[in-house]
Amino acid sequence: MKNLPLGIPPNGLRMGRENDRAVFRPMESRDLEAVLRLINIEGWNYDISELQRILKVSPGTSIVSTFDDKVIGGITATLSGNRCVLGHVVIDSAWRRKGLGKIMINHLIREMDSRGVEILDVYSVKNAMDFYAQHGFKYLENLDTFTTMLTEGMKKGASDDDIRDLTGSDLGEMSRLDLIVTGFDRRNILSVLLEEFPGCSKGFFENDKLIAFILCRTNPIMSDIGPWTMSVSDEGIGSRLLGAVLAELPAGKLTILGVPASNKLAHNICTNAGFKTELYNYRMVKSKKAVDRFTEGTFALSAFEFG
Ligand SMILES: CC(C)(COP(=O)(O)OP(=O)(O)OC[C@H]1O[C@@H](n2cnc3c(N)ncnc32)[C@H](O)[C@@H]1OP(=O)(O)O)[C@@H](O)C(=O)NCCC(=O)NCCS
Repeated sequence: MKNLPLGIPPNGLRMGRENDRAVFRPMESRDLEAVLRLINIEGWNYDISELQRILKVSPGTSIVSTFDDKVIGGITATLSGNRCVLGHVVIDSAWRRKGLGKIMINHLIREMDSRGVEILDVYSVKNAMDFYAQHGFKYLENLDTFTTMLTEGMKKGASDDDIRDLTGSDLGEMSRLDLIVTGFDRRNILSVLLEEFPGCSKGFFENDKLIAFILCRTNPIMSDIGPWTMSVSDEGIGSRLLGAVLAELPAGKLTILGVPASNKLAHNICTNAGFKTELYNYRMVKSKKAVDRFTEGTFALSAFEFG
């Protein structure tokens, strides 16, 4: 018998009387094409590699609901340290308002609680805020997403002695800096991005000490910037780091995901580099302890956290 995580039996869990033949179970590789279709109907414009990466970063935590073996809903759950970020929360439009979303999210809440996870984070669209509020999530802050069409002309590419490519040996220092700035242990996320995209992982060093970094990812559709973490509030350093990654990324659509709306410095840097705000999200948190807004050193989150 296959050993399934999440306390779900091998044939999945039944949804209850009203949705008698719908079941839910852990998300697997074979579900990703179908999950991606549901996600992209919403206009979220994801590539399958993002979902594959979530399963790699946080195996066995995301779930799907199915009906006659057809995927009709999904929620990704990325677990890092004591925090889980829910993303890609979507139910097939024909199945909405039948209680499936409620059952799935309640299951994840209970499961994460039993694992001792202290903070559930979700970056909600406006229309879904009531849904999360009903499950005990509280609004905390706004996050903006910047986009641009990267052209060769935007790539300055001048060499910068204070900036260098990050490697696996920098992971410890990056995680420490990230923990201080964001308050979260995101080592598993940083590690996977560093391993998969070494060419566009850049650190800013002062006297050999890492003081800021940006990681990125690219896929056939677009490139994403984030996490972008700074221990200093310095527009010059931020602009130089951003310039260094722009020089490495392919021309085409580029997003900077999840810039805290309160971070005016990050907004200035992005705007000056030719980006425009495109999407607005609302960070909603469920936690037994007090959770602070992101500090001014958090310049941008990352895609699989963003959801
Ligand atoms: C949001 C979503 C996942 C909810 O799933 P669902 O299965 O339709 O939700 P449920 O039937 O379990 O709803 C439970 C309760 O949440 C509330 N709710 C659900 N969707 C809502 C919406 N769009 N607006 C306001 N309240 C909503 C309702 O109070 C509902 O109870 P009710 O139907 O008795 O009034 C689903 O509507 C969806 O896929 N929406 C599009 C994608 C999306 O926006 N996802 C969120 C991204 S952050």
